[in-house]
Amino acid sequence: MEKLFLCLFGFMLTQHCFMASLAMRITNSSTDESALLALKASLNLNPDHVLSINWSSSLSFCNWIGVTCGIHQRRVRVLNLSDMGLSGTIPPQLGNLSFLVELYLHNNSFHGHLPWDLLRLHRLKRLNLSYNGFSGEIPNGIGRLSMLQHLSFRNNNFSGSIPPSISNLSVLQTLDWNFNLITRSIPPEIGQLRRLKILRIAHNKLSGAIPPTISNISSLELLSLPGNSLSGMYLQTKDMLKKKKVKQMYGLL
Ligand SMILES: *[C@@H]1O[C@H](CO)[C@@H](O)[C@H](O)[C@H]1NC(C)=O
Ligand SMILES: *[C@@H]1O[C@H](CO)[C@@H](O)[C@H](O)[C@H]1NC(C)=O
Ligand SMILES: *[C@@H]1O[C@H](CO)[C@@H](O)[C@H](O)[C@H]1NC(C)=O
Ligand SMILES: *[C@@H]1O[C@H](CO)[C@@H](O)[C@H](O)[C@H]1NC(C)=O
Ligand SMILES: *[C@@H]1O[C@H](CO)[C@@H](O)[C@H](O)[C@H]1NC(C)=O
Ligand SMILES: *[C@@H]1O[C@H](CO)[C@@H](O)[C@H](O)[C@H]1NC(C)=O
Ligand SMILES: *[C@@H]1O[C@H](CO)[C@@H](O)[C@H](O)[C@H]1NC(C)=O
Ligand SMILES: *[C@@H]1O[C@H](CO)[C@@H](O)[C@H](O)[C@H]1NC(C)=O
Ligand SMILES: *[C@@H]1O[C@H](CO)[C@@H](O)[C@H](O)[C@H]1NC(C)=O
Repeated sequence: MEKLFLCLFGFMLTQHCFMASLAMRITNSSTDESALLALKASLNLNPDHVLSINWSSSLSFCNWIGVTCGIHQRRVRVLNLSDMGLSGTIPPQLGNLSFLVELYLHNNSFHGHLPWDLLRLHRLKRLNLSYNGFSGEIPNGIGRLSMLQHLSFRNNNFSGSIPPSISNLSVLQTLDWNFNLITRSIPPEIGQLRRLKILRIAHNKLSGAIPPTISNISSLELLSLPGNSLSGMYLQTKDMLKKKKVKQMYGLL
């Protein structure tokens, strides 16, 4: 930012400044490798675990198990470490995988908070962290992941409220936050998710009224809300949703 500011005033230095601010932002394949190694270091791995053996620098990281790189660039596009019996935390360096499109860590024993840096993964389309022990608040900046299509945090210990910035997730089709500790009311902004087909926020600690804006989601096919302390508008919402042809509804009786 400072450099950019200077650039606006330093005409003679324009090109130099441009190069300098670019260099600060640029990540490359060696950044990807160090991000993966930072993740490896934050796991409690047994020496005989497949990752301990396979993720070694004798092999290009694009050939590491669970890692898929792009065809033209040696940058990580998919990281799939699901069902691997992993325990540990997500290091902030994972946010340096700037070409990442799909991240699957489901069914492991990850714990701790999601680092803010993950919100830098602006190309992310699929994020599945379900069946882990993650805790802490769902980051308010989640709306920055504006390419997200499928998002599952199911079966964790996420707390805090549903951030209104989710309204920014304009291509989101699946939101599954079942079985967490999410509190407060459902923000009316949820009605702006116009591509949403599946909305599961059952078995949390939600309270307040179901916002009528939910019936604005014309693409909605499944809505699951039981196991909360939601109140009011049940029948009204149900009638509206029926008119919108929502096929499956749970927790609205
Ligand atoms: C990759 O980026 C790092 C840190 O920004 C830099 O030190 C390194 O020289 C770069 N490598 C290549 C091959 O560009
Ligand atoms: C690592 O896994 C990849 C993909 O499964 C495999 O091709 C490779 O042979 C493995 N390498 C080692 C050293 O285990
Ligand atoms: C992730 O990897 C596992 C094991 O290799 C595989 O069974 C699963 O289909 C993959 N998931 C996705 C979404 O690619
Ligand atoms: C979860 O991962 C474990 C390996 O850690 C595997 O044995 C189990 O089948 C997986 N569960 C599901 C539902 O895929
Ligand atoms: C990677 O990310 C961390 C934390 O977000 C940052 O401090 C570091 O400078 C980044 N490394 C590179 C090589 O870009
Ligand atoms: C959530 O936290 C409780 C209490 O610490 C614990 O018993 C439970 O196993 C945790 N759930 C998950 C999915 O990690
Ligand atoms: C919404 O997404 C855009 C990118 O599409 C991003 O620039 C902006 O910061 C996001 N806003 C919020 C509130 O997350
Ligand atoms: C996330 O992973 C679980 C398995 O742990 C699977 O049942 C679910 O369909 C996945 N959800 C998404 C949105 O990919
Ligand atoms: C969304 O829903 C609210 C409440 O039902 C309604 O007042 C509003 O007009 C709707 N907006 C659109 C764009 O349909």
